[in-house]
Amino acid sequence: MAFTHLFSKYMLPGNMSLKNRLVMAPMTRCFADDELAPTEAMLSYYQARSDMGLIVTEATMIEPQAQGYPHTPGIYSDKQIRAWARVVDAVHEAGGRIFCQLWHTGRMAHSHYTGKRPMAPSAVGMEGPLPRAPDLSYEIPLEMEVSDIEKIQTYYVDAARNAIKAGFDGVELHGANGYLMDQFLHQQTNQRTDDYGGNPVNRSRFVLEVIDKTIAAVSSYRVGIRLSPQAYINLDYTSGDEETFNYLLEQLNLRQLAYVHVAAFDAQQRYDYLGGRPIDYVRKNYTGTVIGCGGYTPVSAEIEIHNRRIHLVAFGRSLIANPDLPSQIRNGEKLLPYDESMLQSLR
Ligand SMILES: Cc1cc2nc3c(=O)[nH]c(=O)nc-3n(C[C@H](O)[C@H](O)[C@H](O)COP(=O)(O)O)c2cc1C
Repeated sequence: MAFTHLFSKYMLPGNMSLKNRLVMAPMTRCFADDELAPTEAMLSYYQARSDMGLIVTEATMIEPQAQGYPHTPGIYSDKQIRAWARVVDAVHEAGGRIFCQLWHTGRMAHSHYTGKRPMAPSAVGMEGPLPRAPDLSYEIPLEMEVSDIEKIQTYYVDAARNAIKAGFDGVELHGANGYLMDQFLHQQTNQRTDDYGGNPVNRSRFVLEVIDKTIAAVSSYRVGIRLSPQAYINLDYTSGDEETFNYLLEQLNLRQLAYVHVAAFDAQQRYDYLGGRPIDYVRKNYTGTVIGCGGYTPVSAEIEIHNRRIHLVAFGRSLIANPDLPSQIRNGEKLLPYDESMLQSLR
């Protein structure tokens, strides 16, 4: 296969040109230093993947209270911003583009890392042990006051400003996978009765306010968002959740965002309440650029772009296994299969 679609250029809003349709999926690796700043090894890891049309960094914390995993990087301290600037420069020097994924874990934060009880839309806890720290169990979060909501929104905006200061081409708001933004969007985790809960408009309010404040700070074409309208990880589906995403996507159509990135581990999985695959649901309801992700192979991605199901494709695990994925695809080389043991080191 010639992969003509995968290797065609793409123009994001704001005349941001991408050299191909390949995106590095955001992946938490837990290799930041003790001050939660990116290291030289992380610089090399990202630089090695600069032939991808766009890199989205691992989820990056907007403030210290956002932490739920060991050694995840932040973008709130001067040291972190300076260290990210070195990573960004290295990627740019190698001809790549890079967005920073901005993250707050909400109820999935832990006092072991933060010294404080986590905060979330509602006091609904997760069951079970923490990933990558199995000796810890989740805590019942405190319900956020409106003043907490406003403060956290400010952290998102400050983090976006910091990312642009570090030279990032843009930011991707992590609205997927059951973290803070997703907790506002789903009824199981958002049981509020004020302006931030109770109906689709109110459940979308937190996310839309962050988007609008971030757009005002760094401009719309520097802001993308990752969403998982299906509840597939870290929270459960409640009947009617799709109405919130119908409204949210309708609202996103009114803003010139860089893109909507649909998160999944298997993009082909169908959900009755979305009328099929999440990616098709988003394409039906959203008119801008869409990134698909989750179990794609070069062949399936080429076909999906050809059929206009997606504009760009993100690869995660296969890119951990094959740092030089674009040239391997181009040269028809056999890809090394991903193995979980590969998470033990950065390469
Ligand atoms: C080790 C690992 C870490 C991940 N961390 C993140 C993350 O920080 N942010 C995020 O949005 N998704 C994260 N994901 C999900 C990936 O972005 C992606 O959606 C998933 O791996 C499916 O794509 P793939 O089949 O190409 O690997 C992670 C996945 C893996 C395997």
